[in-house]
Amino acid sequence: MGANIAGEFARIGCDVRIADLNQRQLNNGMSILKNSQKALVDAKCLTQREARCALKRITWTINITSACDNIDLLIEAVSENMSLKKKMFCQFDRLCPKRTVLASNTSSLSISDIAAATKRPHRVAGMNFWNPSHIIPLVEVTKGKETSQATAKLLIDVSRRINKRPILVNHDIPGFVGNRLQFAVFREALHLLSEGIASAEDIDAAMTAGPGLRYSLLGPLRTADLGGLDVFHAISGYLFDELSVAKEPPALLSDLVKRKKLGAKTGHGFYKYTKAGVKKTIAQRDKVLIEFLRILKKERAHGQGST
Ligand SMILES: NC(=O)c1ccc[n+]([C@@H]2O[C@H](COP(=O)([O-])OP(=O)(O)OC[C@H]3O[C@@H](n4cnc5c(N)ncnc54)[C@H](O)[C@@H]3O)[C@@H](O)[C@H]2O)c1
Repeated sequence: MGANIAGEFARIGCDVRIADLNQRQLNNGMSILKNSQKALVDAKCLTQREARCALKRITWTINITSACDNIDLLIEAVSENMSLKKKMFCQFDRLCPKRTVLASNTSSLSISDIAAATKRPHRVAGMNFWNPSHIIPLVEVTKGKETSQATAKLLIDVSRRINKRPILVNHDIPGFVGNRLQFAVFREALHLLSEGIASAEDIDAAMTAGPGLRYSLLGPLRTADLGGLDVFHAISGYLFDELSVAKEPPALLSDLVKRKKLGAKTGHGFYKYTKAGVKKTIAQRDKVLIEFLRILKKERAHGQGST
């Protein structure tokens, strides 16, 4: 995630430093970033020259002290581990200038707890990019207990500058907003599959060929507005009671994990995969997403001023 996030800033002309543990990890980040930029060039969202210029604006280093020197914004994207994040933020606090805003790309950990490792909790916030971050526009800016309004506003403004669609999450709650929505759907999908109501293929199709299309354009609340809130109220009245309220992952999922059927990375999850198939599916997903976002952007530009 770190390399792709850095790429976003480099492409709008910022000088960026990427710090990692060792040269091998830096090389890995470099090849991830080059691949992402190639996908953007192939999709004609970026020229070869722009891609080259972006790479030139990035300094790759294993020296965290020099990486923190005289910077305005630091975005942390180390592995998802609270004690590691706290250790890193304590270090950032010591090494960065007082003015530096410290943001974490964590997708699940408490921003307030991370911020407590610093003496500047008002200048710490969540800045959760979604993967693949060179394509997906969403950035969740999450306020911890002590995050100042100015810090949140700065991260929202910065996100807009790198052409993202930021949202403000006012309270530091697990899953922020995007993952709460995603996992509410996942819980129900698992419930339907466990109960044998439909196959994995058909459950996926019920989303991709149905509500998923509307959601990607309108979101769940505007979809309800268009459907009529009286209608959605009436359906909520009897359907909410039927939906899964499981507090733990169901046996179906735990069994797959126990048997190392972890999805694409082990070749078997709800579906079976080959390495070549996964690569093709991801390339196709990214191509379609880029095209779809291009159309959406055009539509939104035409529709500015209307709701
Ligand atoms: N992968 C995703 O889909 C995704 C999406 C949103 C948010 N995130 C969040 O982004 C963060 C990173 O996720 P990722 O998937 O890129 O992880 P990753 O494991 O691919 O990368 C983590 C990087 O952190 C480096 N690192 C670890 N300890 C370090 C240290 N002490 N000093 C410097 N560098 C160190 C590692 O070498 C590695 O390059 C996590 O907080 C994760 O929750 C990930």
